[in-house]
Amino acid sequence: MNIYDTPEKYGIISRALHWAMAALLLWQFLGAAAHLLLSDTAIKGFLFGRHKALGFLLFLLFFVRVAWALINAAKRPPSLSLAAKAGHIALYALLLAVPALALARQYGSGRSFDWFGISVFSGFEGNEIDWMVNIGNSFHSWAGWLLAALIAGHIIMVFLHKKASDQVDVLPRMWR
Ligand code: HEM
Ligand code: HEM
Repeated sequence: MNIYDTPEKYGIISRALHWAMAALLLWQFLGAAAHLLLSDTAIKGFLFGRHKALGFLLFLLFFVRVAWALINAAKRPPSLSLAAKAGHIALYALLLAVPALALARQYGSGRSFDWFGISVFSGFEGNEIDWMVNIGNSFHSWAGWLLAALIAGHIIMVFLHKKASDQVDVLPRMWR
């Protein structure tokens, strides 16, 4: 298995990033669904309890993934269409926006944020920064569910391509 991508398939690092982030996102959405539907239950506590810490891990992994995509830009498998390329760019945009909106709200509220014992930012006394709190309150969960919908569309498209005989089966590029 190659470290770098080739025009035929993604390499081991791109695959590790893709599937590790997919697993973490699945957990985030299970937790978010529990937050929405099962508030004040032990299930919600279990699934949502690490939401901020895992969300920040996804935020960090986003930058690693973009850097790796840029390093491999000239050699990765070509997109099947402009629509597929646009879909992937939209996924990237939301992978950044969703945690960034929550972090802006956390910062603007004046609360500190620690990540596994590491201080990411310390809180402050005094008034909240209204626009940061408002933007997070208005858009974090909304953008999060939009990301979930886009991921569902992404998975459906992979299997539609697999079924259509005149199209390239893209699954082996990322899997096996
Ligand atoms: C759960 C979150 C997921 C996200 C955020 C995501 C995102 C992406 C992105 C951005 C790409 C473009 C390559 C890259 O830049 O890494 C990609 C490619 C791909 N993904 Fe996903 N994906 C997810 C889940 C899945 C799942 C569950 C499947 C299995 C059906 C899948 C199958 C693929 C395949 C086959 C490709 C290669 C497509 C091609 O080469 O044209 N992905 N994914
Ligand atoms: C990619 C990472 C993330 C995803 C996919 C995600 C997704 C979501 C979703 C879909 C909801 C809505 C739940 C509902 O409808 O009740 C939510 C809520 C929440 N998230 Fe995240 N989140 C992520 C990262 C973060 C981060 C980094 C933080 C904190 C720094 C955070 C803090 C919260 C909080 C406090 C709520 C409950 C309040 C609200 O609905 O906005 N999330 N998240």
